[in-house]
Amino acid sequence: MAILIIHPGKKATSWKKRILAMEPVADVREWPDGGDPDEIEFVLTWNHPHGELARYKHLKCIASMGAGVDHILNDPELPRNVPVTRIVDRSMAQSMSEYVVMCVLNWCRQTRDYYRNESGHLWGPKIPKLARKECVGIMGLGFLGEFTAWRLDALGFQVRGWRNNGKRIAGMETFCGQQEMAPFLEKVTVLVCMLPLTPETRGILNHRTFARLKPGAFVINVARGEHLNETDLLESLNAGQLSGACLDVFQTEPLPEDHPFWQHPDITVTPHISSLTNPAEVVPQIVENYRRMLSEKPLLNQVDPRKGY
Ligand code: OXD
Repeated sequence: MAILIIHPGKKATSWKKRILAMEPVADVREWPDGGDPDEIEFVLTWNHPHGELARYKHLKCIASMGAGVDHILNDPELPRNVPVTRIVDRSMAQSMSEYVVMCVLNWCRQTRDYYRNESGHLWGPKIPKLARKECVGIMGLGFLGEFTAWRLDALGFQVRGWRNNGKRIAGMETFCGQQEMAPFLEKVTVLVCMLPLTPETRGILNHRTFARLKPGAFVINVARGEHLNETDLLESLNAGQLSGACLDVFQTEPLPEDHPFWQHPDITVTPHISSLTNPAEVVPQIVENYRRMLSEKPLLNQVDPRKGY
């Protein structure tokens, strides 16, 4: 009846300490020193080696350390009968919304140009873009997406959201499904990708999408690198169809040193930090699920593997 933490390349000490503080009798192990695989019932993981989870025949719950579960669901040998849970956390939503707001405001206030000017001691005032004239389109209206949308709405931006399926959000212009993608995009000047990575959303940031935005639109990706067709982004930027991009996630992380994104004058690169999981904030929901698993109660934040989120 053990908990195994699988976090390759990272120390799991802080997770273990916090789990034990709440559940002192729990048997918490750190991969690769998991001991007898038949004793593992609960796995907490980020980026486990594919095939690894299939070794634990008595597994009853696989918990993601983050909001995304693609790293779990992409495992071709995933034991499909075991429930998978994700983190849903207000502090992560706050952090991600701050990042997106920062990118949108930097674009509106042309901060990049001022940084460039500063290094050349150049005094070059520009007219800022007005929030009420800019339309921010959020793709993905899960907990993080909706939270961020309301933050931008409070700043006076026109905000609209798109989701692949699900309900419309009261008080927000919401577009649903592929058939509403074109009308969603047509007024957007800042496109923010906050989608889960699924076969339907992979590569969704592509030429076709960019061509439907307002000319000179800005793109922000805080979801997954695989949402973005990198060549299409570079071509759309170089053609002037897009004015810039702020990217926090990449197909290969860390972003390779010779990747063209580093050099591009209109791309801001950050190292997957828009919303980092803080063990202190999220361990209570992990321990709650461990207790629920032991008492055979429904788990919190369980994902639907068919949907992928
Ligand atoms: C997450 C992430 O999914 O950090 O939590 O990317």
